[in-house]
Amino acid sequence: MQWIANTAFGLEGQTSRDLKRLGIGTAQPQPAGGVLFEATPAQAFSANLWLRCADRVMLVAGRFEARSFDSLFEQVRALPWEDYLPRDAAFPVRAHCVRSTLMSPSDCQSIVKKAIVERLKRAYRIEWFEETGAVFAVDVSLHGDTATVCLDASGPALNRRGYRTWNGEAPLRETLAAALVLASPWRPAMPLYDPCCGTGTLLIEAAFIALNRAPGLARAFDCEKWPFMPLEEMRRLRAEARETFESGLSRPLRIAGSDIDGEALELARRHVAQAGLNGRIVLEKRDLREVTRTGEAGVFLCNPPYGERLGDRKAAAAVERQLYLLKERCPGWCLCAISADMSFERNAGRRADKKRRFYNGRLECEFLTWMGGAGQKRGDAALR
Ligand SMILES: C[S@@+](CC[C@H](N)C(=O)[O-])C[C@H]1O[C@@H](n2cnc3c(N)ncnc32)[C@H](O)[C@@H]1O
Repeated sequence: MQWIANTAFGLEGQTSRDLKRLGIGTAQPQPAGGVLFEATPAQAFSANLWLRCADRVMLVAGRFEARSFDSLFEQVRALPWEDYLPRDAAFPVRAHCVRSTLMSPSDCQSIVKKAIVERLKRAYRIEWFEETGAVFAVDVSLHGDTATVCLDASGPALNRRGYRTWNGEAPLRETLAAALVLASPWRPAMPLYDPCCGTGTLLIEAAFIALNRAPGLARAFDCEKWPFMPLEEMRRLRAEARETFESGLSRPLRIAGSDIDGEALELARRHVAQAGLNGRIVLEKRDLREVTRTGEAGVFLCNPPYGERLGDRKAAAAVERQLYLLKERCPGWCLCAISADMSFERNAGRRADKKRRFYNGRLECEFLTWMGGAGQKRGDAALR
């Protein structure tokens, strides 16, 4: 079976590596984002459970060229929907159109819904579908004139790990937070500190990685109710993931963070508890100007205000400078920060040693790394 792991732009490489770790070999990047892979239903369930940076896992039902509504209708109706959908299935349809001849998502949605209904009417010899059973959300993506029709195996997007109850003011998506942890030089035995931790997303995702905790462990996926998925095997895979997490829970963690905002910290504490990590992440209310670190050097990882959604540009620039000064007063520590503010390096006062591009929602961001100790580039002039 073919599946697509949807990702934000730039997270395909990490998702392919995560799939490889699950024993799923070749993953092909897709023009509309995400990667295409071949897997058994059990492997696709594992992908839902374990992929840290993907938004959804979807079963590919069909892929074809469609330049007219008639052609879209006929080709969707030709797919063997009765092989997937039982007679009581709920099958909402959503469509996205990018540079396609058929450019109205709402019209594509109606056509696809109608085509599936026509097919199922014949297969089940009924005229009306109650849609009271398991959910098989149909995802139609027209990219150019290629239509890819999928069944969404995840349900709510995979960033919904189940530990976050309220979003705070400018939270980072869990999937992007995990990608940043993995893109940073931090490794689980090292100290990690987020001096602008907000609601704690980076810290929790880092702890999940350190403890080998499946990101989807505490939530359900729509495909668990699909009749052709292997129920017993899925139960076993979930139980194994739980055991892996619980048996590693006593592993030492050196993950901490602080924030100037007491309310954000309250949320961070709640999220830490809901993630099953009570007492494993140290959180303090502190202005980053007062943060100090002693002992072994580690990594500062953060998502400071950009000056767009929170505060103003001047305040954001001051925080950026303070972050660099924090790194300077903690010898050997590395600083990694994501920001949509393209003057971050200038405000920091020194060129970053590494830069990568990520998207935080629609915002194009730079992920900047200033290495500590030996990793620092020599002879790099301070910026004015
Ligand atoms: C974009 S938010 C971080 C969101 C966080 N990554 C999350 O997932 O919730 C930026 C955070 O920086 C904090 N902040 C701003 N100025 C600060 C300062 N001087 N010291 C410490 N934290 C600060 C804000 O209170 C806010 O929580």
